[in-house]
Amino acid sequence: MTKLIAGNWKMNGSLTANEALLRALASGLPQALPCDVAVCIPAPYFAQFQALAAATPALAAVALGAQDISSQPAGAFTGEVSATMLKDFACRYAIVGHSERRQYHGETDALVAAKAQQALAVGITPIVCVGETLAEREAGQTTEVVKRQLAAVIQANGHCISEIVLAYEPVWAIGTGKTASPEEAQTVHAVLRAQLAAATAHASRVKIIYGGSMNAANAASLLAQPDIDGGLIGGAALKAADFLSIISAAS
Ligand code: PGA
Repeated sequence: MTKLIAGNWKMNGSLTANEALLRALASGLPQALPCDVAVCIPAPYFAQFQALAAATPALAAVALGAQDISSQPAGAFTGEVSATMLKDFACRYAIVGHSERRQYHGETDALVAAKAQQALAVGITPIVCVGETLAEREAGQTTEVVKRQLAAVIQANGHCISEIVLAYEPVWAIGTGKTASPEEAQTVHAVLRAQLAAATAHASRVKIIYGGSMNAANAASLLAQPDIDGGLIGGAALKAADFLSIISAAS
């Protein structure tokens, strides 16, 4: 299947820095992209991305993604951004349940499932993140944790589950420079694929991407695994050269 390389800029960037990064990406992207490419950027910069993408042919094939989405459709939810608002900016993806949201904002499995539901309802592909902490891995709970996190999303979304992108992001590998080995990651991806297969006949077409210190040096070996269908890239997505190397490793 076509792989997906998605950058997660997190709370980084500025009008000036974004323009430089996007222009550098545009000048390095091959004319025919070897994979699907997305950048999940801070919401205040969606209009900037749209304007640059419209004026820069090389960026036309790069999809826009959000880093979060409200679990509610509209109304008195101060600070939240709804699915329909994201849709106004032609957002194609929305990350939901990133471990930083689970950890710092107390997001539960049920809330993450509701966010995925909101995204799917307007045709935005949720990038649903699951992953264990170091303590959970050391306690032998990796499988149990990721299956519990995915089960909530399956339960809330029924047959639409084949429309999601799933991201396995071991919490201990995020921003730490420690990557799961290709074999460690593949083992978890296979567990997730089997869980999807029990819920949908289309599990083989669900992209299961890996995130956690993926970089220019380790991308190819991770992406060579049979159940690793792309990457969710944090730190390395902020450097055009590194992000471009990862994209070419996904061909
Ligand atoms: P990282 O972040 O690549 O900097 O580890 C990945 C993520 O948090 O999505």
